[in-house]
Amino acid sequence: MRIEIIEFVDEYVEYFKKLNYEWIEKFFKIEPADEFVLSNPRSAILDKGGMIYFAKCGSKIVGTCALQKVDDKTYELTKMAVNEEYQNQGIGKVLMEKAIQIAKEMNLDKLVLYSNTHLITAVNMYSKYGFRIVQKDEHPTIRANIKMELVFTNELKKVNIKDKFNLINDYWKPRIVGELNQQQVRIVKIKGKFVSHIHENEDEFFLVIKGLLKIEYENFIVELRQGEFIIIPKGVKHCPIADDEVHLLLFEPATILNTGDVKNELTLETPEKI
Ligand code: NI
Repeated sequence: MRIEIIEFVDEYVEYFKKLNYEWIEKFFKIEPADEFVLSNPRSAILDKGGMIYFAKCGSKIVGTCALQKVDDKTYELTKMAVNEEYQNQGIGKVLMEKAIQIAKEMNLDKLVLYSNTHLITAVNMYSKYGFRIVQKDEHPTIRANIKMELVFTNELKKVNIKDKFNLINDYWKPRIVGELNQQQVRIVKIKGKFVSHIHENEDEFFLVIKGLLKIEYENFIVELRQGEFIIIPKGVKHCPIADDEVHLLLFEPATILNTGDVKNELTLETPEKI
């Protein structure tokens, strides 16, 4: 059975309502908030930055789900429904995977959802996809007695270094691409000679992703090629040099200043996150 996920089109608007009415009326009752959203998906969801998807099996619409915008970094997965005749065939999973894929493409911090503990199959599926039960807050429907969150951080959020470097068009301006334990993973493109400086309190980690990096110390120069890294201890005067463009990954405390004890036009107080 081939399942195709398609985006909302007006001709399917009735399916969004019908598929949801079916399961809600089976287990609960339609509440005013359901009625409004299901009757006005365009104004309630789409016009507010949300999305609605349908699962299509052959020519039949057999399932649906929506992503409702909470804020720029948070969306609510909602109104997920699969036609009763098509249940237990993996359609819910396909819809769920689509929602997670979209959330990752949008670089969201998290997906949230509200459910009911009587819907054991659904809650188990959410758990399998990494949703965790969190403190419930207010929700417009009474049947929502549980809130779950899927947080996209660290291990959950994959970062492609090459893609990140493609976003950078300048030199000597580090960008934050990850954070952990008060440390930051930063990347930077460099070319030319930096300013000789010291970090009084922080060790610095430099990993060469591309190119040939020279680190000039007071009395000698170390050359680093792709795949090589160096840790510069605190208090050691150093100056990075790149004859040609070099791509670097830095790992250092969030408090570090790129130019250390020197302040000049290259000093960047608050690097941008990309
Ligand atoms: Ni430094």
